[in-house]
Amino acid sequence: MSGSLLEVTGVSMHFGGLTAVDNVTYTIRSGEVRGIIGPNGAGKTTLFNAITGDLKPSSGKVYLKGEDITGLSPDLICQKGMSRTFQLTYVFPEMTVYECVWVGVYSKARRASTMFFSQADRLKDVADKTMELCRLVGLEEKRDELASNLSYGDQKVLEIAMALSTEPALLLLDEPTQGVGPQEADGIVQLIELLSQRMSILLIEHNIDIILRVCHNLTVLSFGRVIADGSCEEIGRNEEVQRIYLGDITCS
Ligand SMILES: Nc1ncnc2c1ncn2[C@@H]1O[C@H](COP(=O)(O)OP(=O)(O)OP(=O)(O)O)[C@@H](O)[C@H]1O
Ligand SMILES: [Mg+2]
Repeated sequence: MSGSLLEVTGVSMHFGGLTAVDNVTYTIRSGEVRGIIGPNGAGKTTLFNAITGDLKPSSGKVYLKGEDITGLSPDLICQKGMSRTFQLTYVFPEMTVYECVWVGVYSKARRASTMFFSQADRLKDVADKTMELCRLVGLEEKRDELASNLSYGDQKVLEIAMALSTEPALLLLDEPTQGVGPQEADGIVQLIELLSQRMSILLIEHNIDIILRVCHNLTVLSFGRVIADGSCEEIGRNEEVQRIYLGDITCS
């Protein structure tokens, strides 16, 4: 692991009188998988929103590959290499699996293409990449299903494929196994493990077994503040974390 990919410095998010995210600072290195953990309402999703442009931070800065992206639109931030999934799953229900993925692949190709690339070549390339992604996430057989007909677990997987369609350097996953049965959840974790070999990942997850399985480092939030930051081993030994949230954990 080398090189700082994402730097979050002193980010706060206020809603009226409520401070949902309070002066949060951390860094993600290239190749790192970092978990964001903390009790319900700790500010995890709000922190994601402030990083991805879905909310403009009240204060603080966000840098992606050294570039200040604070307050840019989600679309622009996505173009610069950061994609996300949502806690409440977001797919296009009236479109097929293939079409949902195709949209992102096409938009990326359209921006990247040059005059030397014919429309026919571009469409062939987009079709190939769309199929490759469907295959990667295990939805190849279901590519012609409407997204709304998929199981909830498969919709979560499709949302990950949609996030991958723009070829992000950093993938943000907000509770990707929430509400999913154990078998499907295990498939999602295997997919995250596979993706972690290709990109950096920021993962919000309540299940500590999953966190320990995939994350190198953890940031622990409580009432919007970072109360601990470090490797799984360090966090497991942290008495404040044990007291407020984790119980007793040990890393495998
Ligand atoms: N748009 C908003 N307007 C006002 N308050 C908000 C808004 N979004 C979040 N909050 C508040 O900010 C705090 C942090 O919420 P957030 O959803 O970030 O927590 P979380 O850590 O993701 O929780 P969970 O584990 O339940 O998903 C909560 O008190 C929540 O009610
Ligand atoms: Mg949340």
